[in-house]
Amino acid sequence: MTAVRLDSFAQTLVFARGEGLPECVYWGAPLPVNENLTEIVSASKYDVTGGMLDELPPLSLSPEAAKSFPGQPGLEILGPSGEEIRPNWQFETRQQTDDRLEFVCRAEGLRIRFEFIVLPEGIISARTLLASEKPVRLRWMAAPVLPGSPRAAEIMEISGRWVGEMRPVRTPFANGGRLREARTGRSGHEHPPHALFLGPGTTNGQGEVHACHYAWSGGHRMVAEELADGRRQIQFGHVSGSQSAPDTSFESATLLLAFGGQGLNSVAVPFQRYFRRIASAQRLPRPVHYNCWEAVYFDHDLETLKQIATRAAELGAERFVLDDGWFERRNDDTSSLGDWRIDKTKYPQGFTPLVEHLQGLGLAFGLWVEPEMVNEDSALFRAHPEWVLGPPDQIRGRHQLCLDLARPDVQEELFRQISALLSDWPIEYLKWDHNRLPPVAEAAQTQSLYALLDRLRAVHPEVEIESCASGGGRIDAGILKRTGRVWLSDSNDALERARIQHEAALFLPASVTGSHVGPRQSHTSGRRLDMQLRAFTAAQRHMGFEMDPRELTPDEADSLRRATHWWKTNREWLMQADILRLDTEPEIIAELQCAPDKSRFVVFSTLTHALPQIHERPLQLTGLDPDALYTVSMLEKLPGISRAPTALAKGELSLSGSWLMHHGLNLPSRFVQTIAVIEGRRQ
Ligand code: GLA
Repeated sequence: MTAVRLDSFAQTLVFARGEGLPECVYWGAPLPVNENLTEIVSASKYDVTGGMLDELPPLSLSPEAAKSFPGQPGLEILGPSGEEIRPNWQFETRQQTDDRLEFVCRAEGLRIRFEFIVLPEGIISARTLLASEKPVRLRWMAAPVLPGSPRAAEIMEISGRWVGEMRPVRTPFANGGRLREARTGRSGHEHPPHALFLGPGTTNGQGEVHACHYAWSGGHRMVAEELADGRRQIQFGHVSGSQSAPDTSFESATLLLAFGGQGLNSVAVPFQRYFRRIASAQRLPRPVHYNCWEAVYFDHDLETLKQIATRAAELGAERFVLDDGWFERRNDDTSSLGDWRIDKTKYPQGFTPLVEHLQGLGLAFGLWVEPEMVNEDSALFRAHPEWVLGPPDQIRGRHQLCLDLARPDVQEELFRQISALLSDWPIEYLKWDHNRLPPVAEAAQTQSLYALLDRLRAVHPEVEIESCASGGGRIDAGILKRTGRVWLSDSNDALERARIQHEAALFLPASVTGSHVGPRQSHTSGRRLDMQLRAFTAAQRHMGFEMDPRELTPDEADSLRRATHWWKTNREWLMQADILRLDTEPEIIAELQCAPDKSRFVVFSTLTHALPQIHERPLQLTGLDPDALYTVSMLEKLPGISRAPTALAKGELSLSGSWLMHHGLNLPSRFVQTIAVIEGRRQ
């Protein structure tokens, strides 16, 4: 048995390899360079006692039922007549550089490769690749299987729903398996492919965390299992059965692994940095959006849109996104998907008058599309009913069906239509939507979407694409390699949005996370909220507006203008900042956005509900330079009954990072549903 290691600055993996498949025997905090790996391998072995086999079956990178592994195997393949294949893997080669490690093993007619790459953010990526001489059927193949930490007390996954995305769910990591399957054909509102394994008592700022993100926008599956012997395994892969056709080669998506010893923030930051780096074709500086959806819905009238654009530009918008309703006969959601031609009754001269108006205002032009879908009431469907994915009698979703993107003729037609739009009009941005669940979870559909996006991006590299799927139904590292922004949620209710974006910061940075100021009365919750709260909630991420700006009172317009001006003045560093979630009382959502060199920060603290006691507890900051003095001030006055305002409410303070982190800031008394914005600069 020999041992090898792979290190990022944040974590170490140690592998043992013998005759068969290698095993990861350690995943965690960095080990010293002089660690004796052979000792580690032998020291991590368990004893054998009664009531068990005479040896522990290996928890390898792909645990094998054939080796008596008692849990979920890492690979399930079938031969041509449906017989289960149980390969007898023999180790073949290892290749290693400083930032890359690869193992290859062989069995009769089969070859499996496990690949690990160290990324600059400290994350390690892992992939499994299988090749077969003859076509085989794949039932399940996990990305390299990792040992779960023996100390992880809980599994933290992210659940959610439409207008209620990103709801962390914690379950004990206990004996038995936890299976999480996204069978809906996309990464999903309900199961974004992200999971964290938490040491006891983990908070934002403390505790050991192992985190996994499966970079795949289709159906996916996670198995976190504790065996009877107490060992744990973590598996991620494409949802089982989603590669139904026999084939000779298969690849898992990339599994991204992070470890942090200081709470959720210590894994959130590497993921935020990673997502910021991979996001593609982002316009810099990030322009302030205006999106017309909640202002006009399908009711497109050129003069109204021009008036709205003029008001939006006055408020500070820099990009105008024409949402659903612009294409042939699209007057509601029952028709026209598939026919990506301008509706000549609404736009007799095409987009020219609108675009000229926008250009006169200095606004860039963006357009909504939903290319993967078709309505039965469309020219495309009438010509090609056979292009639909799934059975004809399937339940419709928003009156629409999915196109079978794996068909070359569908790919060609979609490329032709969307590329023509991008060539004909000065479109710098596409909001790429996906509003119904596919009827089947076929990996080919996701691969074909990637191929279509890649082809469009190659021909139109300057166009930024936003991933939307009824809000946040498709947010993952697979789609973000091909897009520059995600529409996090259809909820523009600032309080709900604050929660959603705060949880999303477990992996998403501000620069890719769209956040818009919605109508005064939220269209999804019915709640009325103050403009200061709405504006600064949006200003925590990639800012935009989505109300009819003609509804704003002068006070609301002033407040929004101020917040937008502040955002534009700060966006250069804000969009590069790390988002650190603060540990607060449950009635408060607070985060600190910190320049990576700790020279400046801003804190946003939203009081969502009334407190049980009179005063908020001091707001303890995090991630600052303890020895530095910071000049700290509140950006805007907080609404509330404040009879003896705290020092912070009166002006600038000079405070050390250490005091800010160990004692924390005393905020003035304030009303519920208000947001405090506090800026800090190192002196
Ligand atoms: C989805 C999106 C919305 C909007 C509509 C248009 O629901 O999430 O933002 O674009 O489609 O039909």
